[in-house]
Amino acid sequence: MNIVNGFSKLTKNQKINWLVAHYFNNNQAIEPLLQTYWNSNEQLQKLHDEFIENTITNFYLPLGIAPNFVINGTTYAIPMVIEESSVVAAAANAAKFWSKRGGFKATVLSTEKIGNVHFMFAGSFEKLTKFFNTLQSIFRNRTAEITKNMEKRGGGILNIELIDKTADLANYYQLHATFDTKDSMGANFINSCLEEFANVLREEVMEFDLFTSEEKESLQIIMSILSNYVPNCLVRAEVSCKIAELHSKEIENPQEFAEKFVQAVRIAQIEPYRAVTHNKGIMNGVDAVVLATGNDFRAVEAGVHAFAAKTGTYASLSYAEIDGDTFRFWIDLPLALGTVGGLTNLHPMVKFALELLQNPDANELMQIIAVAGLAQNFAAVKSLTTTGIQKGHMKMHLMNILNQLKATAEEKATALKYFENQTVSHSAVVEFVEGLRK
Ligand code: MEV
Repeated sequence: MNIVNGFSKLTKNQKINWLVAHYFNNNQAIEPLLQTYWNSNEQLQKLHDEFIENTITNFYLPLGIAPNFVINGTTYAIPMVIEESSVVAAAANAAKFWSKRGGFKATVLSTEKIGNVHFMFAGSFEKLTKFFNTLQSIFRNRTAEITKNMEKRGGGILNIELIDKTADLANYYQLHATFDTKDSMGANFINSCLEEFANVLREEVMEFDLFTSEEKESLQIIMSILSNYVPNCLVRAEVSCKIAELHSKEIENPQEFAEKFVQAVRIAQIEPYRAVTHNKGIMNGVDAVVLATGNDFRAVEAGVHAFAAKTGTYASLSYAEIDGDTFRFWIDLPLALGTVGGLTNLHPMVKFALELLQNPDANELMQIIAVAGLAQNFAAVKSLTTTGIQKGHMKMHLMNILNQLKATAEEKATALKYFENQTVSHSAVVEFVEGLRK
């Protein structure tokens, strides 16, 4: 068993040597760690080393740009970090398409974030409610230091409620708190406030005379943590145009296209198997910009999918309709994002991405990211209901196959030309490259 003690205390070279000794037959595997992927700029490498524990090298992903996004009248070039070949191209196509049809509109509907102190209490709910009512000002006073700066920025604690959850789990109650964290994602702020609320509960319960000593003893804090489910931190992105205006090179019959498109979205609304893939396409756009701007994509993913299942059935995050002669397509997304704090002013590429987006505040970033999701969804559903996705997808994947085959620049150029008018498949590319090499 390769169990190691004190791994984090080893130097980077010692860590790598340990990996080689235990998991590799030779030093070849580690060449990229210290050579190609290692940054020779010591200061930058140190920054990366210190983002996480046990850093041994960097893991690069491409940063691509999808230009021509007209959002509420401003034109953006959107940075996207993603490994999937066709995503940036699809976003750029959708952006160009809608730039000629009025652009995207986006509106922040709400910005409230949520956190809970989960606790157990075996006693009278009536007395617990009275106890809770005596605590409101104490909660505020005890968190004043934490909330001071946030309040200066116009945010802070919005509300604290006591929730009886005993119908679902014996003795289970919550403090359900809502927050406005302005331009920060707010996780640290929220969690610090919650932990202080928990301290207040723990301490003040002992002082509350109406409780019996058994009731006092029974109050047990289980945990204090923000929720990544943010259905009240919501942004809407939408596009609309006259159906006739949908006409383009790929859309010869706009009426038929609009009808098929609306049916495809309806299918995703009622069929979870399709909804998951439909929403995955949306997240291709969302995650790529969330990553580029240094936000927490796991939090966004968790919250978005919970929102997609809010009715009890997992469903499409986007909607489409035909209203008379107008086609309308929109999405509502819960997005808890930050443009200050976290990685935002530490990671040089995140700084670049935010600057490229004209240093948006959190609300503007919510709008840009929701639009990226909608654009991606439009591109996917458009392809699916017209040509099918493989044509475009395999075209973009061609370069990956050529790279797998270690094609030379000359072979690549010849192959790209040849496959302009041919169906791309793995075997067809292999055959073509082998043909060239004969
Ligand atoms: C592929 O990454 C995403 C799609 O499957 C999305 C969809 O089916 O809507 C094309």
